[in-house]
Amino acid sequence: MDKMLITGGTPLYGEIVASGSKNASLPMMAASLLTSEPVMLHRVPKLQDVNTMCDLLKHLGVTVSDLKSGNLQFQASSLKTDTAPYDLVRKMRASFLVLGPLVTRFGHAKVSLPGGCAIGTRPVDQHLKALSQLGAEITVDEGYVVATASNGLTGSNICMDVVTVTGTQNTLLAAVLARGSTRIENAACEPEVVSLATMLNDMGARIRGAGTRTIEIEGVDKLGGISTQVPTDRIEVGTYLVAAFATQGKIVIKDAPSGELQTVIEKLEEAGASIDVSGDAIQIDGTKRRPQSINVETEVYPGVPTDLQAQFMVLNTISAGESRITENIFENRFMHVQELVRLGAKVRLNGPSEAIIEGVDKLRSAPVMATDLRASSSLVIAGLIAEGQTTINRIYHLDRGYEDLDQKLTSLGATLSRVS
Ligand code: EPZ
Repeated sequence: MDKMLITGGTPLYGEIVASGSKNASLPMMAASLLTSEPVMLHRVPKLQDVNTMCDLLKHLGVTVSDLKSGNLQFQASSLKTDTAPYDLVRKMRASFLVLGPLVTRFGHAKVSLPGGCAIGTRPVDQHLKALSQLGAEITVDEGYVVATASNGLTGSNICMDVVTVTGTQNTLLAAVLARGSTRIENAACEPEVVSLATMLNDMGARIRGAGTRTIEIEGVDKLGGISTQVPTDRIEVGTYLVAAFATQGKIVIKDAPSGELQTVIEKLEEAGASIDVSGDAIQIDGTKRRPQSINVETEVYPGVPTDLQAQFMVLNTISAGESRITENIFENRFMHVQELVRLGAKVRLNGPSEAIIEGVDKLRSAPVMATDLRASSSLVIAGLIAEGQTTINRIYHLDRGYEDLDQKLTSLGATLSRVS
């Protein structure tokens, strides 16, 4: 089913529970390659990207047991192959995260280059630079990265030229079994780096400084198994907070990591929402108030995440006044703009990284096309507020990153259905 029909105009009311994080679970799944002992992950979200990572790990020879209700067990006793094929890697770029673990534990890996995607060229030069600094021989041939380190990896001082989340994660996954110590400068500080480092330390690694710009790793000979939980998806929570405000509704999100959403909460309050945090629950009240226009600049953590840029743009399309959205992380992440314009939004681009939005009273339904995961969630929010029934084509993008989205939105009062 690749179309979603949404009837707009109903405020979202009620309570939902946030799911486990896509972007935390994927590197945690790749970490299972680092040990021959069982790795059990709880609260893994039911997502297409998780299925793709399971398929890749099974292809490599990892035993994957789906124990249901989000509990997955992995055991990489030995490998069937060291090759991560193009048809799996091209489906999901995060597959590239198997490179570091394969090289450091088995001494060789052949992983397809991920290629670009809708939001940008997405190079992996920093991943390869770090691995070669750790002593891997890297060649790129026929679209594949071939990395060998027959005597294992050796710790090194690595300075990232660019703050890269999966680049930092791949380097961590490689350095934990390298001989000696490694220092990563200009590391990414995202929570998904911290949750990976925490899991690796619980498996016996020796990592300090995760969550800061400088991470230090003391290599160890081997890692043990673990049973651990995937943290909550901060981007899912941010998406629902924006949706609730845009529809002038009032919702509570349980299991929400408010500490990881400070700048997002501040931005929503700046736009006029009232937000209460108590423990792991966030309540947002947007009833009877039109959002104020807010300028948003995406930044690396702890700034406003690029993965919420499209969602904030929808909020601005129906706000009172003019606003600017600046995308500082990816070079082509405004694919949703033309689709929002089809719904009656007034958005114009001022160069490749700035959009200027003039708020309108309301959006009007129209057929639109989803282009990437987060753009598709912004079109869902737009459908929830547009007058009439909006059809979103290629809605499969959504299922890559939002667990039980239809059920959650329906439970909050949305009217939506899927058709082929
Ligand atoms: C992760 O992608 C996330 N994906 C993305 O979420 C997220 O948007 C992004 O981080 C930024 O927060 C996962 O965690 C699976 P980057 P990643 O490397 O690691 C450049 C979603 O919707 N760069 O931090 O691939 C790159 O081009 C996805 O859930 C290099 O130049 O992003 C970009 O401009 C979308 N060379 C910037 O760095 C490199 O070697 C940040 O990219 C690596 C990256």
